[in-house]
Order: sequence, then C-alpha cells, then structure tokens
Amino acid sequence: MSKNLAIWEKAKREGRKMTMITAYDYPFARLAEAAGMDAVLVGDSLGMMIAGDADTLRVSLEQTEYHVSIVAKAVTRALVMADLPFGSFEESPAQAFASSARLLKAGADMVKLEGGAPMVETVAFLSRRAIPVCAHIGLTPQHVRQLGGFKRQGKTPDAAAKLIEDAHALTEAGARMVLMEAIPAELAAEITRQLTVPTIGIGAGPGTDGQVLVMHDVLGLNPDRAPGFAKRYLDGADLVRTALAQYAEEVRGGSFPPAG
Ligand code: KIV
Repeated sequence: MSKNLAIWEKAKREGRKMTMITAYDYPFARLAEAAGMDAVLVGDSLGMMIAGDADTLRVSLEQTEYHVSIVAKAVTRALVMADLPFGSFEESPAQAFASSARLLKAGADMVKLEGGAPMVETVAFLSRRAIPVCAHIGLTPQHVRQLGGFKRQGKTPDAAAKLIEDAHALTEAGARMVLMEAIPAELAAEITRQLTVPTIGIGAGPGTDGQVLVMHDVLGLNPDRAPGFAKRYLDGADLVRTALAQYAEEVRGGSFPPAG
C-alpha cells in the first residue's frame, strides 16, 4: 500500500493481491484511499462516467491534467495512475513524453497507455526518461472504432499468442505494470505467470496480480451501465435519488429550512 512501485513488485513476488479503483475527483479519491486502495486510476473512463459520453475518445489531455491534479491532492499514500488520453501520445514518443510529463507534474505517479506492439518504442522512450508506464492491452477502449465495439479480446489461439508476445515486448521495453482488459481468465493468468512485473485485470478473471474497477460501476452510480465483469457493491443511484427527492419534498412542504 504505497506509492512506491517496488511495493507492487514485492506484492507480486509474495502473492498478495493489489487493488485499484478509478477516481476523478477529490471526495471519491479520498474515500478510495480511506478504504485502503493501493492505487487510484484517473482513467479516461471519465469521459463516460463524468461527461456522459458513449466512449472515451473526446477526453483531452487538459481535462485529464485537471482531474489528476484534484485526485493527487486527495491521495497521500496510494499510487496515482493517469491515462494518456486518445490523441495525446500516439503520434510520436516525443509527443508521449510531453503529455506524460504534464500528467506527472499534475501529480500522477505513473501513466497508462493503451496499445500493444506499436507502442513498444514509445514505452522504451518514456521508460528511459523517468516516466513509469503501465501498458494497457486486450480490450483497449481508445481503439473502439477499429475494434467495432467494446468486445472481448484474445479469444482465438492466434490472438492469445499475440497478446502474450505484446506483453513481453512492452515489459522488455520498460513497462512496469501491465493492465489487461476483457480477455479470457486463463490467458490473463498465463501472462501474469510469465511476467515479472505486476499485472492488473478488469474483466480478465482472478489470476492477475491486482484488480481494477470503475468507481461508478462499483457504487452503482450509473443505473444505465452494468458491464458483466463489474460487481455493484452499492445501489448509489437509488440512494442519491432518494436523498434528493426527500430534500425537494421538504422544501416544497415547508419543513426545510427550519424556521429561525
Ligand atoms: O479508463 C479507465 O477507467 C480504464 C479502466 C477501465 C481500466 O482504463
């Protein structure tokens, strides 16, 4: 439970599971840390969770920088990971470095970037320049147009072999963590066994070193969204709606605010 990446590596060696959740603002980031999360991800899922978009493509570097800065203010112990948003890193390693530096200056401890083999050169460039990188493979939501939707990946033997190859290439280039999204559990477990760096899974079964979920899914804040792999631990939407309805009712009925 530390900002120190070495602690994550030690946890992997010792077989201790690590925990991560997304947070985009100060109060939820504080609650995540108070609940004992090992890491907080300022994910580009903020486009879907906060802005109500259908995908993550519209999220900008400036928006991410802002959310990282408020999350980092709230978090003193947990590792703060920030997504490099679509369009902020793919053009060249130099572009990726400039964007990553902005996120680190805003308070991130580490950046996450989506993509397999085509990102190897960029990961190497960043890693040699003091930027800790988490590589995100499997379902990469920034590629949703190319993938034709949010579809599970690595289902055929060839696709699975490619993911294993990508995971090795990215970590050999310097990636300090690998996040795997929506791939078969056995494949994620096999990649986890083969890599020396910690792996984090979402929709990738129990065999990864850590798990990440989206805050709004865990708290049931978006009743229209129920990804199969997420677990809803609270019916947050219902609790909030009930509280707000009670407030409105008390104002209309004259019992709030009290006289005097
Ligand atoms: O943006 C995000 O929240 C993510 C998680 C789904 C891993 O990348």
